[in-house]
Amino acid sequence: MPRRRAIFCCVEAYRVWAEIDLDALARNLERVRQRAGPGVAVMLVVKADAYGHGAVAVAHSALRAGVEALGVGTSAEALELRKAGIRAPILVLGTVLDEEAPACLRHGVQIALHSSDRRRMLQQLARRLGLVARVHLKIDTGLGRLGASPTRALALLEEIERSDHLELAGIMTHLASPLGALDPATRLQIKRFQGVLESARQRRLVRGWIHAASTASVFTDLRPLYDAVRVGLGAYGALPTALPGASDLEPVMSFASQVVFLKDVAPGTPIGYGGTWRAARPTRIATLSVGYADGVAWRLGNQGHVLIRGQRAPIVGMVSMDYTTIDVGDVPGVCVGDRVTFFGRDGAQRIAVEEVARRAGTIPYELTCAVGRRVERIYVGSETPVRGSPSDVLTPVPPPGREVERVRRALSALAAAAPRSGGP
Ligand SMILES: Cc1ncc(COP(=O)(O)O)c(C=O)c1O
Repeated sequence: MPRRRAIFCCVEAYRVWAEIDLDALARNLERVRQRAGPGVAVMLVVKADAYGHGAVAVAHSALRAGVEALGVGTSAEALELRKAGIRAPILVLGTVLDEEAPACLRHGVQIALHSSDRRRMLQQLARRLGLVARVHLKIDTGLGRLGASPTRALALLEEIERSDHLELAGIMTHLASPLGALDPATRLQIKRFQGVLESARQRRLVRGWIHAASTASVFTDLRPLYDAVRVGLGAYGALPTALPGASDLEPVMSFASQVVFLKDVAPGTPIGYGGTWRAARPTRIATLSVGYADGVAWRLGNQGHVLIRGQRAPIVGMVSMDYTTIDVGDVPGVCVGDRVTFFGRDGAQRIAVEEVARRAGTIPYELTCAVGRRVERIYVGSETPVRGSPSDVLTPVPPPGREVERVRRALSALAAAAPRSGGP
């Protein structure tokens, strides 16, 4: 009995997993650096748990690879990194709530600043705490989301200059187009930004880093790139949209699950909620222990493909919360326990997250961010990943291939011991 419980435990741990290749991350960062050119710093954007890759491990690894700063979306994300022992500059790219500002200031987290009200509040708060707050003035040149208008920017820079508890650490804008420099809208944004910078330079108000570009602009060779680029998706190995000549990135995340059940079905057999798919021929259906709660886009139902045994197999029926079904009638030798890859690499084969996003009618950002809490992150690469505080350095995770083999053996033992119930 105890042995059987052990088998169940081992299977449960790997229902679904995301392999994060930290060496691929380092190589992608090197490509970003080459594209950006000498003298341009790299800020790695690690918001939303590093786009689902695990912010602490990714941040430690990227800092070892030489990135100069980290960008986050919320103050909680910044504090998580500080708690994990990260001392590098961290910028909250968007905005923080008033209530969150004291913790940011105490922990030396830099904040993007958008308005006079916020400038006043931060100046008063920093004075009360006996600190100097490092801020980046964010200028809205066309995204229309956050940031001071170009017409207000100079007045704000003058206010910051007069605020003895504020230090201007940068001037930034964010570009709206996924086509980067190929889009005239990007050039218009840069022109507006440039206009503010020139006036600010004349009045000697420019301090810190000037930064504007994210992945799309870096990989379309936008110029100027100023002092720093803020890159997220490109470092994780994907592009926001198809961009000519920019396809040498490597996927960092491979999102995979396994076959937990197999059954042969007759023509006409309905599969999944709503019976939206019916077998057109006698075929074999594999059920996978992963669903939309784990990050498989629901829209991939009857649309997507996966990699199994070096071949593509179609997703059939709707994706459900915990399970997904695929047609493996054309894939010989499929067994319970086989690895199934939704995006990323499986040996020499790949499914690009961009392709999966197109099929699901979404963007690659959403797919990696949606990889859920039930999904085991397995860090691979030549260095030891750091996933918690410095005192919580994990031993290297065993290579997933071996792990999957162990799971497969355990499942076979289980199958041999149990009465057959529908699987071949
Ligand atoms: C302000 C800001 N800069 C940079 C980035 C990074 O963008 P990307 O992942 O396209 O490189 C983001 C991400 O949304 C952002 O909000």
